[in-house]
Amino acid sequence: MKELVSKIRKFFKQLHPVKVRKAIHYQKSRSSGGHVQVNMHVNQYIEQLIRLTETPEDNFSIRSNQKHERSYLNVPLSEARFLEVLMKALGAKHALEIGTFRGFSTAFIARGLAKDGKVFACDEDARPVPFARRFWQAMGVEEKIHFELGMAKGVLEKLTKDEPTLEFFDVVFIDADKENYKEYTLEAWKLLRPGGTLLVDNTLNKGLVRYEESGDNSAEHIKEFNTWIFETFQKQVSLLPAWDGLTMVVKAEHISEEN
Ligand SMILES: C[S@@+](CC[C@H](N)C(=O)[O-])C[C@H]1O[C@@H](n2cnc3c(N)ncnc32)[C@H](O)[C@@H]1O
Repeated sequence: MKELVSKIRKFFKQLHPVKVRKAIHYQKSRSSGGHVQVNMHVNQYIEQLIRLTETPEDNFSIRSNQKHERSYLNVPLSEARFLEVLMKALGAKHALEIGTFRGFSTAFIARGLAKDGKVFACDEDARPVPFARRFWQAMGVEEKIHFELGMAKGVLEKLTKDEPTLEFFDVVFIDADKENYKEYTLEAWKLLRPGGTLLVDNTLNKGLVRYEESGDNSAEHIKEFNTWIFETFQKQVSLLPAWDGLTMVVKAEHISEEN
């Protein structure tokens, strides 16, 4: 059987090698669930396309942010651009970000918001803040960002106790310590306006979530969180198999009827 397949392949390759090779690739990707595996090189290709749309000055700032030894903590540029475009698509004005680091995702979210929009960003670590501020300034979005230093729990508690911020945000983006994702989601839910969108990053945790025993603490937390979020929000929730996994939940106005 193997010989026959190889003979057929050879025959088709002679006829039109490029087309056939593409077809074989297509067939392979269909049989593996229908998706193309986005490896580092494909991601670099997407980043090149994005860089075409940025000014030389912004490209310089973006590259400087990506050069840091811990820049693996940033969302990839392709995800940052997705967040920017998503804000525009949603017509978002107020966003809340949990986990800011060097302000990479924050800047793109801010850029995607309405002109008079604002991101309320928070992080417990003060060390990257000066860099984040310089980055926001270079990207021309510092006016659209309010940063609060503190533990996410405390910041969220403060916001939920403050009547005007209840049901205020169009979008909440969670990208911090995985152990507390469920707690952050429950608090964020009170802050989201009906119809608002919750985004949670790293919900595939390097793909480790698919193992029954992942042997990884973060992955085990994320697995528990993933099951919980799908059970709780039913058809309002989706997990994008992109980057490190991005969960998206919409706060429907009448959740019990629409589930
Ligand atoms: C993955 S980084 C965020 C990256 C950023 N969203 C970006 O893409 O540019 C996670 C951040 O969460 C912060 N963090 C972790 N635990 C936290 C907590 N309990 N409260 C507030 N921030 C926390 C860390 O200090 C770190 O800067």
